[in-house]
Amino acid sequence: MTLITSKQLLLTALENRFAVGAFNAINMEQIQAIAEAAEEECAPVILQVSQGAIRYAGLEFAAAMVKTAARLVSVPVVLHLDHGYDFEQNVRCLRAGFTSLMFDGSSLPYEENVATSQRIAEIAHIFGIPVEAELGRVAKASDNLCYEDICALMTDPSQAKEFVERTGVDSLAIACGSVHAMEDQGADLNLDRISAIRSQVPQTPLVLHGSSGVTVESLQQAIPLGITKVNVATYLNQAFTRGMREGAAKFADSVDPRQPLALSRDYVKEAVREKIRLFGSAGVVHSSGGFRGPSRQFRSAELGEAE
Ligand code: G3H
Ligand code: ZN
Repeated sequence: MTLITSKQLLLTALENRFAVGAFNAINMEQIQAIAEAAEEECAPVILQVSQGAIRYAGLEFAAAMVKTAARLVSVPVVLHLDHGYDFEQNVRCLRAGFTSLMFDGSSLPYEENVATSQRIAEIAHIFGIPVEAELGRVAKASDNLCYEDICALMTDPSQAKEFVERTGVDSLAIACGSVHAMEDQGADLNLDRISAIRSQVPQTPLVLHGSSGVTVESLQQAIPLGITKVNVATYLNQAFTRGMREGAAKFADSVDPRQPLALSRDYVKEAVREKIRLFGSAGVVHSSGGFRGPSRQFRSAELGEAE
């Protein structure tokens, strides 16, 4: 089907207490794996183009691959800009047909973050495209922060309501204990912090970044509290590189790169299916093929349409 925006999708997820997987991809194999996994799990999916993907594949190329993947599956797909760094890049993505944007002003002073998030939301909304912004800051593993530093960067619940009201953004990325690019799943989320933020902005979908390092238990507890979009990148890259390594050894005598790449694609697909089930979005898209998922199902049109 064609792309949908993330607006209605995340509101439906919030209301029904499931989360939508937002998966980063940098190449054709990863995009195919994510789209096929979503199709097989009857799940809506957000395909994210990161800054790294833009540097590697180019904005137009990455967007075109996601659009093609969306056309080839029957489940709803969102084309999302991940960690957009300024106004201009967000506008370029609007022009390129993205159906969901993000501005990451988390390293800016608060007022600058508000001003740019608001400006992007204003222009994006003219085109019916929703915007995610970040309040607080989700650090990177390479920052090597101690626990106290990570806590100090967490989203201040008392700022959340004002931030959402002044910016008009559609979803809020929060810092609540996760760290980007962790290679093991050892981080516990601060569930009280999530609840405190939720109570300030009960109608706003909350976004979790850096989910690869978060424990399964924490993720399971955070989704009923209102986390409705879960970003996953490193976990998929780990699956992909495992396939490359194993493939290189297994097909050591071959010069056909499709052999290791196909293995990588299979591993990424399995990883995405596992996450979709964990997030509770397996089976939420109505299909005539039978029901396997949560207690509610939605026709694609109920989850949103691209404008
Ligand atoms: O924006 C992307 C995510 O926050 C991914 O984080 O690589 O730790 O899964 P991750
Ligand atoms: Zn992130």
